[in-house]
Amino acid sequence: MSKLEQIIWLSSGILLAIFIELQFIPIWRFVPSMNPMNPPVKYEIEWTNAEGAQLMHDICYVCHSNETVYPIYTRFAPISWIAAQHVNEGRDALNFSEQPAPTISADLLVAYIQSDIMPPALYRSVHPEANLTPEQKALLIATIRETLGSRY
Ligand code: HEC
Repeated sequence: MSKLEQIIWLSSGILLAIFIELQFIPIWRFVPSMNPMNPPVKYEIEWTNAEGAQLMHDICYVCHSNETVYPIYTRFAPISWIAAQHVNEGRDALNFSEQPAPTISADLLVAYIQSDIMPPALYRSVHPEANLTPEQKALLIATIRETLGSRY
């Protein structure tokens, strides 16, 4: 084995060991917002339109509910920590599982969808399916309006 091969094997071994050890670090004891847990669902909003409800779940509930489904590649540290932090930040701002419908502003949801503020651009760059078509936006907005009205 050449010197270079030895170095490559050794450094791969070290990286693998670090990766495996990362999986056992309960980082959320130090940074609570990195906890990838789903707290219990307290409120279940009855969206008036089944198709719209499905789209809300697929697109917005990822970060704004306690029903987050973490894809397989986000289950390993350190990606899992970053994903959990984004989800927990989203929940802090708006949580469909913890806020009763009357406390949620339909106007704000609609404005954020219309102006492409949500889903966040960074998220859309890695999840192309979150780039909403005009039809999908219209469906979400109609569902939000029907369910929540236009109260602040
Ligand atoms: C990748 C995670 C993520 C997704 C997906 C996501 N959001 Fe957000 N959302 C956030 C974060 C983080 C914040 C808080 C920071 C901010 O306002 O930019 C936020 C804030 C908001 C707020 C502001 C709440 C307030 O009172 O300040 C609204 C409204 C909102 N999101 C709506 C939506 C809607 C509607 C969707 C689906 C179309 C969606 N979000 C999808 C992460 C997300």
